[in-house]
Amino acid sequence: MTHTIATQSTAELGGRASVLVRQKRDHVELDRLLHAIDGATGARRQDLLNEVARLVFPHAFAEESVLWPVIRRTLPDGEAVTLRIEQEHQQINELWTELEKTDPDDTRHRDLWRRIETLLREDVRDEEDVLLPKLQAALDRNRLTALGVAWEAVRRIAPTRPHPVVARRPPGNVAAAAPLTVLDRGRDRLDRWSRHTGGAKSQGLRAVSTGLARLAGAIEHIPPLTRGEHPSTATTRSEADPRDDGVPKS
Ligand SMILES: [Fe+2]
Ligand SMILES: [Fe+2]
Repeated sequence: MTHTIATQSTAELGGRASVLVRQKRDHVELDRLLHAIDGATGARRQDLLNEVARLVFPHAFAEESVLWPVIRRTLPDGEAVTLRIEQEHQQINELWTELEKTDPDDTRHRDLWRRIETLLREDVRDEEDVLLPKLQAALDRNRLTALGVAWEAVRRIAPTRPHPVVARRPPGNVAAAAPLTVLDRGRDRLDRWSRHTGGAKSQGLRAVSTGLARLAGAIEHIPPLTRGEHPSTATTRSEADPRDDGVPKS
């Protein structure tokens, strides 16, 4: 018998370093940001959307590269439960890539965001109510801690943007980690600088960021980075074209 981790205490989940506690902490922060976005407009809303991206993409990348492989090896139904979540992650990556290319003032931007928000909430429920309780039942406290440390280490250095073309599984996503992390985090820095400067300098920084987005889009298509993908999570984007990737409109 397994119970949702949502209502369990830190001690019940294996202590502060447990992967279950670390997961729940991010999910709670995500819930806070989603509520904040509901009432936000303009630049404030865009800042909050960026915060969600910086939270959820490294979180999910580390799940896919560190946690789900362990779950597939440990649980009899690990393949089915992780595949469902990989499919949710894939849809979020695809929709967010569309969101970045859509004018924030367009009604389509709000529609895309509603779909992403729904998927994010479903993903949290599937993890907290189904997958993580099964992991809790299968692993002792020491293994939950070891997994928490490994997941956190990858989460801190993982890509921070959507990458719908790279594999949702090793070895492709592991091969993608280093180049995409450098490009994504470089873009995060450039975008921050551009918001704090003005005029031609800001435009120049944004142009460099756009160039890095195109480079990341091209790198995503290199065959080792798509290796290991389950067919059901291969990108369905009609525009799976390296020249048309991740160039934001906001
Ligand atoms: Fe999660
Ligand atoms: Fe997730």
